[in-house]
Amino acid sequence: MSEYKRILLGVSGGIAAYKSAELVRLIRKRGAEVRVVMTASAMQFVSPLTFQALSGNAVQTDLLDAESENAMDHISLARWADAMVIAPATANVIAKLSHGLADDLLSTLYLAATVPVYIAPAMNQAMWAKPVTQNNIATLRQHGVQVIGPEPGEQACGETGLGRMSEPSDICARLFAGLAVRCLEGLNVLISAGPTREPLDPVRYLSNRSSGKMGYALAEAARNAGAAVTLVSGPVSLAPPAHVETVRVETAAQMYEAVLTRAEASDIYIGAAAVADYTPAVTQPGKIKKEGEQTHLILQKTGDILAAVAALGRRPFTVGFAAETDDLKAYARDKLARKNLDMIAANWVGRGSGGFESEQNALEVFWKDGKKSLAMTGKPRLAEQLIELIAERRAVTGRK
Ligand code: PMT
Repeated sequence: MSEYKRILLGVSGGIAAYKSAELVRLIRKRGAEVRVVMTASAMQFVSPLTFQALSGNAVQTDLLDAESENAMDHISLARWADAMVIAPATANVIAKLSHGLADDLLSTLYLAATVPVYIAPAMNQAMWAKPVTQNNIATLRQHGVQVIGPEPGEQACGETGLGRMSEPSDICARLFAGLAVRCLEGLNVLISAGPTREPLDPVRYLSNRSSGKMGYALAEAARNAGAAVTLVSGPVSLAPPAHVETVRVETAAQMYEAVLTRAEASDIYIGAAAVADYTPAVTQPGKIKKEGEQTHLILQKTGDILAAVAALGRRPFTVGFAAETDDLKAYARDKLARKNLDMIAANWVGRGSGGFESEQNALEVFWKDGKKSLAMTGKPRLAEQLIELIAERRAVTGRK
């Protein structure tokens, strides 16, 4: 497949706007033409002249500018591009795009665009973490927008966290990788995500802190890599990813059934769900009454989904996760061997940053005779790296 030849770059008003000058240079180095559109607040940070000089094209800033509409009206501009990238994308722009507002040139172009759209968010870490921003991002993802970053680290405001715009070289790589790295083209990938809920009675259950973010990010990354993806999901508040078959389950037993009936038809299985190891031996038909100072529960071991998939005759390339509070490496290697897996991705949990619920994570990935560390970053970027590693290892082992 050929690379994008014409990129429309939207720059909105954040301190990271200066980094987008480098992005223009990198995109042009790939042989593509760039046209830049700036919002009014972006011009407070960087002059349009900078982008004009670097792109070799006049910069458009105004929806109602007769001169630029004469040269190329906004609909033609949206049609001209092979892809649109907005970097930096501020919280405000993200909110506007997710709600379909079109009150300036950039947001109007987004609405008019029928080509792939990428956004590189950049904002203060608390603004990124706000549920309303996360909902807006989820909406854009559902509409097929590819989100690049943000990255963790020190911010211009002096705080530390997730919210820095990805480096221009990473944005450029993603932009072109979207076409080039289709490392799972034609494969069926089955992924489990989220927690399970084990009912004690009609109103109570045992569960855990999994949000599903890691598994959902893997589903999106596998889909973007060309796979047909089925996602078996425990109860989470995330929207189902576009173009992914999502099967909702609640209990470990339901997840077992949903995964095992699909596993033999899959080329790869990734067990990112936090499945309950034990379930109440009996689910009481009525609400359990408050009696006595203490009570006890009798719990029954659940079936191990991952081990059962790995024991199938026509098994897929089987990747487990290990969530550990100590001895990460030893426990992960033990699970790899005991469950007869092709690979295991281990993460620390219960330590504040990464693991359950968090927007970011880091992984230590092990296989029989090797390992690779994937450094702390946003779960979407981490998922891409893991998917690429899985594709690489699967090719080496030659499993179906
Ligand atoms: O969902 P997030 O908030 O984004 O958090 C992500 C995560 C921390 C849940 C994820 O990265 C992760 O680590 N998932 C696995 C959690 C877990 O249950 O780990 P474990 O070490 O207890 O289990 C090992 C493996 O066995 C896992 O692949 C698990 O899916 C699997 N398992 C466990 C029990 C069981 N009955 N069946 C299984 O298949």
